[in-house]
Amino acid sequence: MIFETHAHYDDEAFDQDRETLLESLKENGIEYVINVGASLQSTKNTIRLMEKYPFIYGALGVHPSETEELNEENFLWLKEQYFLKKAVAVGEIGLDYYWDEPDRQTQQKWFRRQLQMAKEVRLPVVIHSREAAKDTLDIMKEEKAEETGGEIHCFSYTKEMAREFLNMDFYFGIGGVVTFQNAKKLKEAVEYIPLDKILLETDSPYLAPVPFRGKRNSSLNIPYVAEEIARIKGISKEQVIEVTNCNARKLFSIP
Ligand code: NI
Repeated sequence: MIFETHAHYDDEAFDQDRETLLESLKENGIEYVINVGASLQSTKNTIRLMEKYPFIYGALGVHPSETEELNEENFLWLKEQYFLKKAVAVGEIGLDYYWDEPDRQTQQKWFRRQLQMAKEVRLPVVIHSREAAKDTLDIMKEEKAEETGGEIHCFSYTKEMAREFLNMDFYFGIGGVVTFQNAKKLKEAVEYIPLDKILLETDSPYLAPVPFRGKRNSSLNIPYVAEEIARIKGISKEQVIEVTNCNARKLFSIP
């Protein structure tokens, strides 16, 4: 069955039908979901979801674009949440120079702090990195991110960058973008990355795969992603689903 490693079911895009949708996942082949926090509020909402649904686990953390809200006091609050049983990762954290807000210094400061926290609480990290490949890699190396391990979510860089993250033993979250016709570089990277380092994800409600590009995304669309990875690697879709499920259980320590 499918392990969905990155969704935002707390997003208001699901306010109308969240419960119905989540309850339909299992019968559609989705076994587990990691709901990912992107701000303090969405971290709170993620905790609520993981407490309500047995198949939902949580990545808790603050996305680079939201780091302006962090201070010593709420950072301490955040740290306490990792002792919850179903908190399995620190994320999503990282750098986003596409939006370039708040300033890079603020983003970098809290990226480092959250990488350090991951080491303290002994959890892997979920990294968001957009148009910031070099700084992301440099900071990860300086902070010794290989000690916790983790994944590069929505990997969007070249094969050469993939090699750098592979050297740190990181995993790669692959989602709807791989089905886009113009995603040539990403398809090349997916061909290069060994299957045992790939995770399936959606980033729902964003980044729906072809043929639903531009629409609201959900974990139900993951088979389109698995199919494209299978095509690129010349293996079966079932094999992609099975191996990536094992990968996710291993990374997030879910038996
Ligand atoms: Ni995300």
